[in-house]
Amino acid sequence: MAEIIGLPEPAPEGATALAPGAYDGQTVFVTGGGTGLGKAIAIEFARLGANLVIASRKPEHLDAGRAAIESLGAEVLVVGCDIRQPDQITEAFDAAAERFSLPNALINNAAANFPVPAEDMSPNAWRTVVDITLNGTFFCAREFARRHLSAGTTGSIVNIGASYAWTGGPGFAHSAAAKAGVKSMTESLAVEWGPYGIQVNGLVPGLFPHEDMTADIRSSLDRTHAKDPCQPAMRVGRLRELGWAATFLASPFARFISGHTLVVDGANWQRRSMTNPAVVTVRDQMGKGPFQP
Ligand code: HXC
Ligand code: NAP
Repeated sequence: MAEIIGLPEPAPEGATALAPGAYDGQTVFVTGGGTGLGKAIAIEFARLGANLVIASRKPEHLDAGRAAIESLGAEVLVVGCDIRQPDQITEAFDAAAERFSLPNALINNAAANFPVPAEDMSPNAWRTVVDITLNGTFFCAREFARRHLSAGTTGSIVNIGASYAWTGGPGFAHSAAAKAGVKSMTESLAVEWGPYGIQVNGLVPGLFPHEDMTADIRSSLDRTHAKDPCQPAMRVGRLRELGWAATFLASPFARFISGHTLVVDGANWQRRSMTNPAVVTVRDQMGKGPFQP
């Protein structure tokens, strides 16, 4: 009789999906690479020999990213940068070019998100999430592409998305709309920049809990229940699984893949049935009282 065992555990921490040295001499620019998934992705590139550039706002996050990469014996540059500010992105790419080279790959990982019922969301809350997640992602991609077009060199962009780009995300209307924009933008840019040798792909994490999750996001998960038995995989994602996917998408082994968004979530987002659990309003899920205008 088939047992409920879920998807197997991946190869152990420290194993690499590509051959050692696959990124020797390459520069990889990761936004938000000092925390969570961005740090996990940066680590996998570093294990393969890449020089890392980590760009984000907070010094404590940049310090954490630097420490993680240096502990692997890899080279790393950290730069303070708010991706809502195109001038700061230009300065960050200048610093990357000065220290290493024009980045060969850009991992657009930085994003903003917090759960909030749509009717409670202030205009500035909406703007902030869309500005960081969608506008910031475009501004970084634009800077990367303009430099490669000027230099006549090739490159690879990986935009980190979310599966509610397809489904919508109750309680996360701002982030879901922004991620839908990122998915669409990935497809447009892949066509526009393919002729110049620039691949553009999306990479969507499923549920990947980590110690840097903001209190807001973590509490929205804690309020539900243990996630493992709720996933078809019977487990959540292991950080290295996302890192391996990113290193593959930006590698020479994926050069004919462009405009694609790869979902790494153990099929969780395809879980649908005609009789879902009873509807619980976002207000109730969040323990909020009645709407007060
Ligand atoms: C309602 C909120 C809010 C909250 C902020 N705001 N937090 N509204 N609920 N929890 C409102 C503020 O009141 C303000 O509006 C506006 O948003 C901007 O807030 P600031 O604090 O001034 O913004 P800023 O300093 O730019 O910080 C951005 C931030 C912050 C998004 C608010 O949380 C941040 O820096 N986050 C970065 C990390 C992050 O978000 N990671 C999550 C990625 S995870 P008013 O009207 O008062 O001026 C992810 C997972 C997807 O995406 C899948 C999940 C299941
Ligand atoms: P996280 O730890 O909160 O990381 C977000 C990162 O973005 C931080 O390092 C933050 O650094 C940076 N950032 C935020 N605003 C910025 C700005 N204006 N300019 C520059 N950097 C900024 O979140 P995470 O869970 O690792 O998420 C990483 C990516 O995966 C995001 O795109 C997210 O939407 C996606 N995702 C995550 C999950 C999950 O299960 N964790 C699921 C689906 C999708 P600073 O604060 O230093 O600026």
